[in-house]
Amino acid sequence: MTNQDSVNLSGVYEKSEKIKISLEGKKLEKVKNQASENSEQFWSEQAENILWFKKWDKILDSNPPFYKWFVGGTLNASFNCLDRHINTDLKNKAAVIWESETYESRVLTYYQLYTSVNKFANGLKNLGVKKGDCVTIYLPMVPELMIAMLACARIGAIHIVVFSGFSAQALSDRINDSNSKVVITADGGLRRGKLIELKKVVDQVIPLCPSIKHVIVLKRASNNIKINSKDVWWHDVIETQPYCEPEAMESISPLYILYTSGTTGKPKGVVHSSGGYLTYLYATAKWVFNFTNKDIFFCTADIGWVTGHSYIVYAPLMHGVTQIMYEGTPDYPQPDRYWNIVEKHGATILYTTPTALRMYIKFGDRIPNNFDLSSLRLLGTVGEPINPEVWMWYFKVIGKENCPIVDTWWQTETGGIMISGCTGIDAVPMKPGSGSFSLPGINAVVVDESGNPVDRDKKGYLVITRPWPGMLTTLWNDKEKYQTTYWKKFDNNIYFTGDYALYDIDGYIWLLGRADDVLKISGHRLGTMELESAFVSHRAIAEAAVTSRPDEKKGDSIIAFLVKRTEFNTLSDQQLRIEITSHIRDSVGPIATPGEIYFVNKLPKTRSGKIMRRLLKSISSGSSTIGDLSTLEDGTSIEEVRQAYSELHEAIK
Ligand code: PRX
Repeated sequence: MTNQDSVNLSGVYEKSEKIKISLEGKKLEKVKNQASENSEQFWSEQAENILWFKKWDKILDSNPPFYKWFVGGTLNASFNCLDRHINTDLKNKAAVIWESETYESRVLTYYQLYTSVNKFANGLKNLGVKKGDCVTIYLPMVPELMIAMLACARIGAIHIVVFSGFSAQALSDRINDSNSKVVITADGGLRRGKLIELKKVVDQVIPLCPSIKHVIVLKRASNNIKINSKDVWWHDVIETQPYCEPEAMESISPLYILYTSGTTGKPKGVVHSSGGYLTYLYATAKWVFNFTNKDIFFCTADIGWVTGHSYIVYAPLMHGVTQIMYEGTPDYPQPDRYWNIVEKHGATILYTTPTALRMYIKFGDRIPNNFDLSSLRLLGTVGEPINPEVWMWYFKVIGKENCPIVDTWWQTETGGIMISGCTGIDAVPMKPGSGSFSLPGINAVVVDESGNPVDRDKKGYLVITRPWPGMLTTLWNDKEKYQTTYWKKFDNNIYFTGDYALYDIDGYIWLLGRADDVLKISGHRLGTMELESAFVSHRAIAEAAVTSRPDEKKGDSIIAFLVKRTEFNTLSDQQLRIEITSHIRDSVGPIATPGEIYFVNKLPKTRSGKIMRRLLKSISSGSSTIGDLSTLEDGTSIEEVRQAYSELHEAIK
C-alpha cells in the first residue's frame, strides 16, 4: 500500500453519531479557518465547555516560550471530572469498569468515584498535604490510582505518577526532583500472574528520599510487607469525612508533573497546567472520539504514561463517559484479553497501540474472530507510527470495515492529541498509516534544517507554530532546558517536536519517527543517554553506546555496544550479558530489556569525543552504506564494531 491509497469512508463515518457540541454540523475546514482567523477567541470558546469558579481575565499571556492560558481564571480538575455530574442523570452511571488480569470486574459509578475521591482528599489533608505540595503515586492499574490523582487535584496538590513497571532508581529520581512529601503505593501489583513487590521498591528508596514524610500503602496483593514508621494504610487514611471542598486553582497552576525521556541522561519533568490542559482535553476528546453518553471507552494505556493521564483520567471523566480500565497485559493469561474485554463490557471505542496490534496479528485472526466485537464504533491508535498493513488488519479484522480509525499523534509535552482524523467534526477519507490532519487551532508545519517549510512529499522536522492550551508550561526545576529542548532549534516561538514528518500531495501528514536520540520501545519513550548511564552503572562496564533497530513486535529494539572495564575482561561475554540484562531490568525496568548486547574495545567517536550513534545504527540495521566518516576519530573503532556485530549476529542466526 502506498501513501496515496486511501480508504473511502462514505457510510463508515455516518455510523458514528455526531455529538451536540458547539461545532456541530461544521466542517473541519470551516472550524480550522475559524481557529486560525482568531485563535485566541477560538480557544476561549472551547474553554467555555469546562467549569470555572472564576472566568479568566486574559486568554493568553504571551511571553515566548512561557505562555500562560486563561490567566486569572480559577477552576478545579476534580470538580470538572466529578462534581459536574453528580447532580445530573450521570450520578449513578458507571464511570469506571475495572477489569483485573484474572477476569474480575469492579464498577465504580460517578457518585462512588466522587465519594472515594473526597474521602481520600480529606485523608491527604489530614496527613498535612497542602495546595502546591508534590505527591508521588506509584500504583498498579487499579481504580485507586485514579482516585489518588483526582484527590490530589481536589486539594491542589501536584501529582507525579510513576509507571509501576519502573524500578527503584527511576522512582527515587522522580521523588527527589519533585521534592514529594508523600508517596502512595501498594503492597504489590500483579503482572502476568507474577507479584510485583512495589512496597519493597519504595522501602529501598525511602532512605534516599528525605522529603518523604508519609508512605500510603494500598492493600492490593495481600503479600507480606514490612511496615515502617512512615507507613500508613490507605484504608486507614480514608476513615474521614465524605466531602472535601475543592480548591480554587489558578488556571496556570500545575496540575501534574509527568517525567519523560529526552536526549539527556536525566528524565524531564513535563509540567501541565490546570485550565489550558483541561480545555484542550475536553475539546480534543470531542473532536477526535466524538464522545457520547452511550460510549464505553476502552483506552488500553497504563496511567503511568500521558495517554492514561489525558484519555483515561481527565478527558473521559469530564465528558461523563463510561470507561474500561484494564489492569493487565494484552496476552495474559490468554492472547485475547482486549477482545474478551470488548465483548464482555460492550466497548464502543478502542484506543490502543500499534505494538499491541502487531502482537495480536501474530496470534492469528481466529482469536478475535471468536469474539463479538460488534459494539465497536471507532478505533484509535497512539504512540508510534502504524504500518499500513497493521492498520488494514485493525480495520478489517477488528472493525469489520465498519469503524473509522483515528491515528492520533501527540506527545507527553503536547498534553493532548495534535494530529488525527476528527470523527466529531468531519468525515474525510482515511489513509492507512497517516495521522491525517492537525486539529483545529494547531498549526503543524514540516520544515528543513533552517526552519523553512519543505515541499509536499519531502521529509523534514515537524514543528508547531502557535501556542495551544494543552502545551506543557515548563520543565520542573529547569526553565532553561525547557527553552533549549523545545524552543531554540528554530525560533523561540516555534515548538520543535523532535519528530520527522511529511505532508503528502493531498495534504495528509505522515509521521516518520524521532529525529533525536529518543527510542520508542513498545510505544514507550526511552532516551539513549538515560540507558547508557544505566549500562555504565554496572560494575563491569566502562562505556556504553545505545542505538535501536526496527523490531516487528516492539517497534524498536535496544542494541547496546559496551566497553568492559579492563579488570573484567576475563569474564565471559555470555555471563556478562545475562548479568547486565538483569541489571538494566532492575535499574530502569523490564521495558528497557536490551535486545542485543555487543562488547567492543572502543566506541566510534568524533574528535570532540561524541559517540557517533548514527554509525552504530547503520551497522545494526544492516545498512550497506555507513555514511560520512570524516569526523570519526579512530577508523579502527568502526571496524571493530562491525566485526563484533557480524560475529554475534551470525552466531545468533
Ligand atoms: O515520536 C512520536 C511518537 O511518540 C512520541 C511521543 O511519545 P510520548 O511522549 O511517550 O507520548 C506517547 C503518547 C502520546 C512522538 O514524538 N508518536 C506518538 N503518537 C504517534 C507517534 N508516532 C507516530 N504516530 C503516532 N500516532
